[in-house]
Amino acid sequence: MLETFSKKLMQPQNGLLDRKIFNDSEIYRMEQEQIFARCWLFLGHESMIANPYDFITGYMGEEPVLITRDGKGKLHTFLNMCTHRGNMICRAEKGNNQSFMCTYHGWTFSIDGKLVGVPGFKEVYFEELDKAKWGLVEVAQMDSYKGLMFATFDSRAPSLIDYLGDQKYELDLSVDRREGGAEVIGGVQRWVMKANWKFAVDNFGGDDGHHMITHGSVRPVVIDGKRWFNAYAEQKDPNNRMNMGGGWITEVDSSGKPLNEMGYMLGKYEQEHQKELRERMGGNPALNTMRGTFVGSIFPNMSFSSLRFNFRIWLPKGPDKTEVWHYCIVDKKAPPEIKSMIRLHLTETFGPSGNLEQDDMNNWQNSTFTAKGIVAQRQPMTILAGLGHDKEVPVTGTKLRAIYIRWAEMMNAASWDNVSINKSR
Ligand code: FES
Ligand SMILES: [Fe+2]
Repeated sequence: MLETFSKKLMQPQNGLLDRKIFNDSEIYRMEQEQIFARCWLFLGHESMIANPYDFITGYMGEEPVLITRDGKGKLHTFLNMCTHRGNMICRAEKGNNQSFMCTYHGWTFSIDGKLVGVPGFKEVYFEELDKAKWGLVEVAQMDSYKGLMFATFDSRAPSLIDYLGDQKYELDLSVDRREGGAEVIGGVQRWVMKANWKFAVDNFGGDDGHHMITHGSVRPVVIDGKRWFNAYAEQKDPNNRMNMGGGWITEVDSSGKPLNEMGYMLGKYEQEHQKELRERMGGNPALNTMRGTFVGSIFPNMSFSSLRFNFRIWLPKGPDKTEVWHYCIVDKKAPPEIKSMIRLHLTETFGPSGNLEQDDMNNWQNSTFTAKGIVAQRQPMTILAGLGHDKEVPVTGTKLRAIYIRWAEMMNAASWDNVSINKSR
């Protein structure tokens, strides 16, 4: 169906990508239609709109949306667009409100999307305007997985649980660690980078090969506190293969002793709740390979890391521009000082001031920049690592190929019948 990328260059199953897919406006426009207008997209966590009449604004692909909890507690997602002449009906990031009045001509919508007020309804519209027809445009499906809210514009999309598949187990490692689940704290950090959204998604989703090189400059000044913590835990219990989370990066002195309290306190918190974590996560198949921590992406543009307690969405803003929205997520039951330490730890490592984040962005921006060249586009990009050995060693290349096989599948699929998703798990 899609002829915009070269069949010769674009063979993800053979480890080849058409470089054009990372910097081309026609392909970008197709992505909006084939991917963002159809797939389940991440909206945030329910704790961000915990009370009746709470709302947040966000984006699904490039479309601005308004996410609300109505007076009965039901969740809604609407296009953040007045049905009169298209002005955005809400400009705030978050709040609590029973209705939204458009600042252009004053049409007013209730929190559950109904058109409830039209200036001049009698004098100008002669009471003939059918208000029931002109409520806010609501998404086709909205659902939550353990507090994580998703929506899709496509009524034919499979259910959220089918769409998530086995990734639900990986999400559990972040959102179901303790009784009461998780909550987002500290608002949303946002920034823009001049990179194609897919570089970020594939980096979190499968580019294991970059750690030692890209983040090489961070390693000499800090150590991964998780190793220190795991070593401690395993010394006490050699069979302990389930250290949930706890990927703290801690500044150390020359003997490896942590210089501040953070690593120690967070390690202690993990240790204290090992029993509860073990019980909750006992049947989780993701633990066998991941030892309780996980970094991944949910197609198309959400990434998460139970290792660093964060979620993010990579919002497409053009073929070479992405806006990142980054959330800190913690156990709801954790004491306030631990939540605060997790937030500080996350700010140190990820987000616009994060030492690891900055390493990553620089590379993605350069890869996006070079992908624009006419001569460069004659050369395929390679994701060849482990090709032909996927079952023996599922290394970085295996995961990257899987991401781009799904991308090409969505770009080509006329309907969900042509997309390989197992139903009814
Ligand atoms: S555009 Fe909203 S009231 Fe006219
Ligand atoms: Fe990285």
